[in-house]
Amino acid sequence: MATKFLLLPLIILVLSSLCTNAHLLKTCNFDQMYQLGDSISDTGNLIREFPIGTSTPFARLPYGEAFSRGYIGDGTLPNNSTGRCSNGFLMIDYIAMAAGLPTLPPYKNVEADFRHGVNFAVAGSTALRSEVLATKHIFSPVTNSSLYVQLDWMTKHFNSTCLNHRDCVEKLENALFMVGEIGGNDYNYAIFQGKTMEELRSMVPEVVDAIMNGVRKSISFGATRVVVPGNFPIGCLPIYQTAFETNISSAYDENKCLKQLNEFAMYHNEQLQQAINKLKQENPNAIIVYGDYYNAYQSLLQSATSHGFEMEKACCGIGGKYNFNLTRMCGAPDVPVCPDPHRYMSWDGVYLTEKGYRVMADWLIYDFFTKLQCHF
Ligand SMILES: *[C@@H]1O[C@H](CO)[C@@H](O)[C@H](O)[C@H]1NC(C)=O
Ligand SMILES: *[C@@H]1O[C@H](CO)[C@@H](O)[C@H](O)[C@H]1NC(C)=O
Ligand SMILES: *[C@@H]1O[C@H](CO)[C@@H](O)[C@H](O)[C@H]1NC(C)=O
Ligand SMILES: *[C@@H]1O[C@H](CO)[C@@H](O)[C@H](O)[C@H]1NC(C)=O
Ligand SMILES: *[C@@H]1O[C@H](CO)[C@@H](O)[C@H](O)[C@H]1NC(C)=O
Ligand SMILES: *[C@@H]1O[C@H](CO)[C@@H](O)[C@H](O)[C@H]1NC(C)=O
Repeated sequence: MATKFLLLPLIILVLSSLCTNAHLLKTCNFDQMYQLGDSISDTGNLIREFPIGTSTPFARLPYGEAFSRGYIGDGTLPNNSTGRCSNGFLMIDYIAMAAGLPTLPPYKNVEADFRHGVNFAVAGSTALRSEVLATKHIFSPVTNSSLYVQLDWMTKHFNSTCLNHRDCVEKLENALFMVGEIGGNDYNYAIFQGKTMEELRSMVPEVVDAIMNGVRKSISFGATRVVVPGNFPIGCLPIYQTAFETNISSAYDENKCLKQLNEFAMYHNEQLQQAINKLKQENPNAIIVYGDYYNAYQSLLQSATSHGFEMEKACCGIGGKYNFNLTRMCGAPDVPVCPDPHRYMSWDGVYLTEKGYRVMADWLIYDFFTKLQCHF
């Protein structure tokens, strides 16, 4: 009898923390996180790459302007742009916080403390190797550190931190691996370099294979819990809405997003999920979860009004219907920044504000919590 009375306050406590999602993933007992990916999760690798890293806008304010509030917990200095492609935190930061872990340090920061994991993600990177894209006449303009290269870094990292395979398996027993989002840039570069939707579709199987290779490799090191995120509804992003703006109203869906581009993102995501299901059968001992960034974003759109979000315009940018111009992007001279980024979903027309990422991460954290089989 007595235990029942004791349990009730406990349940209320658990339920109330569940509502905020703030530490929901603590019950998963993750002690490390490893991230492979692109600008959606880069916490400082690209800006440390030679030769162009320091000259990218992400190395300077207004990127990271929200960090003027101070220390962020991974050894990054306060008041520093950090290399994140946003005004502040990314989804991966909120996921780390929800797991009770420090924010993930970038691999390229030689001074970082990697005891709780490493972030290998590089802004601008692709799932396919630059050389492979080049054979399709697609040029990687920002970095050659594709998923393939990041997996090589991961091999080097585990070679230097594990004594042998068994040691790695033991060390990674409670680690969370995030393989993506990656692949979005393969399509971005293709489309902005003049490829047709048909050509984009024909790339999907190869991109999905490259991502699956990343999952297999992670599992071969000892990963037991892997999240594989899909693509965003790219037709909702100002960069695409500006490039493909049209007067044909049937080109838009009820959220004013470009249908054809969203359909393409869904096409990639469906193939990715099929590949994940196949891989699950091959690896019954690993928990492999699809990260539904597409629907997390849709949910953000649906709650936009209740969050008081500006739906169309980017916070940092200039011109046009969406406050976006490809030749004068956020970070360029005299491009204005809105005074109230928390009222915007889009930070710069490509990436979200930290508030937007937080709302998406809250949705995802709850979804991961259920699917990663974490228990109270
Ligand atoms: C960051 O810089 C701004 C402007 O220079 C200053 O007001 C603020 O106090 C700084 N914050 C920290 C944590 O150093
Ligand atoms: C961030 O810190 C680095 C290293 O101390 C420095 O070179 C850079 O100028 C800083 N960036 C900003 C935006 O303060
Ligand atoms: C990528 O590699 C190619 C071939 O080695 C090189 O020409 C190019 O400059 C590299 N790009 C970047 C962004 O480092
Ligand atoms: C990792 O270690 C193995 C065995 O010692 C070695 O064969 C391999 O070349 C190493 N790989 C890297 C990337 O350092
Ligand atoms: C849409 O229609 C207006 C008025 O007819 C025209 O000025 C504008 O160029 C059109 N925009 C596009 C993207 O076709
Ligand atoms: C974008 O910026 C360029 C250069 O400043 C300008 O020529 C062009 O008209 C702008 N485009 C739009 C749609 O505002």
